Amino acid sequence: MKFKSLIAVICLIFIPVAGIAGSDSPEDAIQARQEIMKFIGSNMRSLGAIQRGQVEFEPAMTKSVGHAIHAMSLSLPFLFVEGSFDGDTDAKQEIMTSDGFGVHLNNLQNASLMLKNVANKDDFAVAFSQLGQTCSACHREFRK
Ligand code: HEC
Repeated sequence: MKFKSLIAVICLIFIPVAGIAGSDSPEDAIQARQEIMKFIGSNMRSLGAIQRGQVEFEPAMTKSVGHAIHAMSLSLPFLFVEGSFDGDTDAKQEIMTSDGFGVHLNNLQNASLMLKNVANKDDFAVAFSQLGQTCSACHREFRK
């Protein structure tokens, strides 16, 4: 993977944010959060390539990916709304009633912030692993 394609992913992930302001129906909320998750997922794959040594570690790059994931994660709380747990979604209804979801969301936000500040490959490995754990922990509990 080339540096350029990583940058393309970073740019792409800002696109759905524009749509969030208009997400007034449960269907819009479902679509927006799934798009955000997909773009977070693409960025995680780019980070995975760095972790495996396929792309050279570059602090400026991981900082911007961390920033992008963090920015995306900030909109997620507004996209799990009443009525958005039926139909074309894998999100569980319990999200509305459990405090756990907010905890996982916080962990995602904090771990992506941490990624913004890594200065070397070792610190990157720790931050990447912590970030990855936030995904699987929340998916295990709140994704169908
Ligand atoms: C706070 C909980 C939470 C965290 C943290 C979280 N996710 Fe998700 N994710 C979900 C839920 C809920 C869904 C199902 C959304 C839906 O279908 O409406 C989902 C769906 C997804 C999807 C499928 C999107 C689609 O419909 O195609 C991907 C990919 C994904 N997440 C990646 C990630 C990655 C990568 C991370 C970590 C960097 C992450 N998620 C962190 C809750 C979370």
